[in-house]
Amino acid sequence: MKKDLPIAVFDSGLGGISVLKELRALMPEENYLYFGDSANAPYGVRSLEDVRNLTMKAISELYDRGIKAAVIACNTATSAAIIPLRERFSDIPVIGMEPALKPAVLEHPHECVLVLATALTLREEKFSHLMERYDDRAEVISLPCPELVEFVERGELEGPNVEAYLSEKLGPWREKADAAVLGCTHFPFLREAIRKALKPEAVLYDGGAGTARQTRRQLELRNLRREGDDLGFVEIENSLKTTEILYRSCWLLDQT
Ligand code: DGL
Repeated sequence: MKKDLPIAVFDSGLGGISVLKELRALMPEENYLYFGDSANAPYGVRSLEDVRNLTMKAISELYDRGIKAAVIACNTATSAAIIPLRERFSDIPVIGMEPALKPAVLEHPHECVLVLATALTLREEKFSHLMERYDDRAEVISLPCPELVEFVERGELEGPNVEAYLSEKLGPWREKADAAVLGCTHFPFLREAIRKALKPEAVLYDGGAGTARQTRRQLELRNLRREGDDLGFVEIENSLKTTEILYRSCWLLDQT
């Protein structure tokens, strides 16, 4: 039955697990099939065409196996491919992500808001439109942080290397930034380290919970919610076919 099919959750690697956590918290009875493309990560330093092709291929393979919705749990893949994805897979909801700039600037009018994301997300049209809408409400500073993706892929969420990188990257904004948007799904796993690198009252925003709510809305609109309240399954797959990456994925799913 269609309602029992899994929701596919896709990311360039392990970052989308931060979104999978939010989806499970909101809809524990749903079934999930997570696919991370760690063999090709990071996506954020690749060309638009490359990221689009990798994303289309991954979703196409998941679609052929039978899914009822696809969550693109990656800001970078969303920027590159959300339009062709929705055209090609028009019979299922395809939910994308964008940096949570809107809530940040609405809650911090005329203050300084940092947007941490990949270089691709920050240079693409989708983000330019977002900036056009909101950059008169606050001072918005875009900061590409590709190395943070690598830290998470390695499972390095704290320690001297993470701290040194963040202090170099965020140090110049430490006193000024009132809020930071975690505009890449890998970054919520580094939330504590990022928090320490900013002034204590700075507020952090990420799009995971909003994406989970949007997924629920889309499923409800199409009458696709799984029935009953028994716990759904979670299957995790990765293009890097090693036990270590699967172990790390499960470990990240357990991180608070
Ligand atoms: N997790 C991805 C995002 O939300 C991208 C990480 C990468 O560069 O692969 O943008």
